[in-house]
Amino acid sequence: MRTISWSDSEGGRIILFDQTRLPLEMVEINVSTHDQLIDAIKRLAIRGAPALGVAGALGVALIMRNSERAGWSVVDRDQAIAELRSARPTAVNLAWGVDQVRPLIASGSGAVLERALEIASADAAANRAMGALGADAIELLIPGKQLRLLTHCNTGALATTDWGTALGVIRELHDRGRVEEVFADETRPLLQGSRLTAWELSQLKIPYRILPDGAAASALFAGLIDAVLIGADRIARNGDSANKIGSLAVAVAAHAANVPFFVVAPESTVDRSLADGSQIEIEFRSDSEVTHFAGVATAPLGSRTYNPAFDVTPARYITAVITEQRLYRVSEGETL
Ligand code: MRU
Repeated sequence: MRTISWSDSEGGRIILFDQTRLPLEMVEINVSTHDQLIDAIKRLAIRGAPALGVAGALGVALIMRNSERAGWSVVDRDQAIAELRSARPTAVNLAWGVDQVRPLIASGSGAVLERALEIASADAAANRAMGALGADAIELLIPGKQLRLLTHCNTGALATTDWGTALGVIRELHDRGRVEEVFADETRPLLQGSRLTAWELSQLKIPYRILPDGAAASALFAGLIDAVLIGADRIARNGDSANKIGSLAVAVAAHAANVPFFVVAPESTVDRSLADGSQIEIEFRSDSEVTHFAGVATAPLGSRTYNPAFDVTPARYITAVITEQRLYRVSEGETL
């Protein structure tokens, strides 16, 4: 089943695979209004930058269908599109997906839907291309050895239309018989690593172990990791990369331990309007994600928190950014 897809039944709807329910259950959600889609995006039922890009494009198709059927005013339609576009601010793909289909609005919902479906197919193809390019680069850099690879958050099929970005490279290396083991950071506070990455790895029968985020530096310094691969939510022109909170700590530790650190993401995640990462807007999330676990308080009532969902890794800590087109050696000063 795909993370996100379109169904023409009942006037058109988006079908999502609810990622908040994993690894315990596989639940489908049928989304027929933009409010439902925005809610799913905000509570991370659908998440991961490339999947959000497709959600943005399909979301505009849904808004167009509903607007044509109910005769909305242009103002109401455009407001719905604007709300969708800004539902999560850091992953540039959401705004990118909306902007890709916006010029087709005047041609009607059919044209918008057609383009949105093309974007979904292109994302699946880009993931395969990144997987092959990244695996080639790692095989060249670390020849003739079974690899122990560390990853953070979830960058697999669940975060994309299909296959995965950083996890896609890992899958490709596994298919080539090169993976000894994957170290999956659990990824506090919402556990995308242990809930989602570990679930995908177990489905794929790729050997893995889960580590608390705080153990990544010690695993790197203990010589247990040959390379780190992560995804990105927004990449500036100089290669500075925003990704799930905790990525920066892994990058700094990998740099100090002399372990190569790769960012794998589609070109749609590159924001060439930004010279560097200082201008990337970071989403802050609710206190309860930190003070509670599965609804149970794990901190004194009323505790304040510091809960950024993302951090920005400076290019100097990134061996290379790998997209579906090419590899950019950003720590050596190459720009995107
Ligand atoms: O808050 P999330 O789960 O949407 O954060 C996702 C990440 O940080 C991913 O690593 C990133 O979007 C790349 S997904 C291929």
